Amino acid sequence: MKPPEEQTMSSVFPRDTRINLPKAIRAEGCYIYDETGKAYFDGSGGAAVSCLGHGDPDIISAIEKQAQTLAFAHTVFFTSEPSEKLARLLADYTPGELDRIYFVSGGSEAIEAALKLARQYHVENGQPERRHLISRKQSYHGSTLGALGAGGNEMRRAQFHPLLIDVHHIAPCYEYILRYEIETSYEYGQRAAQELEYEILRLGPETVMAFIAEPVVGATLGAVTAVGGYFQRIRDICDTYGVILILDEVMCGMGRTGYLFACEADQVVPDIVCIAKGLGAGYQPIGAMICSEFIYDAIKTGSGIF
Ligand SMILES: Cc1ncc(COP(=O)(O)O)c(C=O)c1O
Repeated sequence: MKPPEEQTMSSVFPRDTRINLPKAIRAEGCYIYDETGKAYFDGSGGAAVSCLGHGDPDIISAIEKQAQTLAFAHTVFFTSEPSEKLARLLADYTPGELDRIYFVSGGSEAIEAALKLARQYHVENGQPERRHLISRKQSYHGSTLGALGAGGNEMRRAQFHPLLIDVHHIAPCYEYILRYEIETSYEYGQRAAQELEYEILRLGPETVMAFIAEPVVGATLGAVTAVGGYFQRIRDICDTYGVILILDEVMCGMGRTGYLFACEADQVVPDIVCIAKGLGAGYQPIGAMICSEFIYDAIKTGSGIF
């Protein structure tokens, strides 16, 4: 046992060792309270997490009931009523044929699963040479190594560069900075999307595995939507070259844009969509990777194992 003076010190490894954080004690509705009783208005719900408010009695009692009934059953051996019900609920509302839900414990893990599934799909589909991932500069897809590699935020990537997978980054769709004055929004969006086709052709279309993007860029651009027509052109390019389109809706999905899935506003259906944050609303660490039936079928009729 450590000496008494050490036992009172914090053993938590914080994100930033240089600052002292207030201690959150409880939360209710839109407010978090610290140990002095001071109330903080949680306007952003953390990083777009607490979308149902804090302390909701119905959610708490459902969690309590479930923990009493069944807290854990390994997914290798069992399915469970809550996972079946939630998957059914999501599948009823997904656009297109995004019908298969793979549950994970957060956003980064959902992205990792999406990247692995895109790769496995091509392998099982007889195209093992497809290995290149294309994403966009100024994107954020999470903090685990695969997700960090996919992201385009140089500041976050820099020191881990030797550990990251090789990803090819094109420009984001960022009208405010990148549209020429002589262009309409639509023309700019078409030009921005065209970068994807050029990159696919440069790498060799038969080697490209997937393209990943956030419908609304969250952490690294600040709530930036694409211009009209951009994602439709992206969808066309992916279809032309057999490239899997992954949309990262970890931050912008689950109702945050007014649609359950943000891609509905862009009128495109990706092959894989990732959700987290608002799915658990801070009450549970949960995320999901949702894929189209044709990808699921390739696994089902192939090895059968993801
Ligand atoms: C767009 C996006 N993708 C992925 C992630 C990673 O999610 P998590 O922090 O749950 O691992 C985040 C987190 O902020 C995000 O905003």
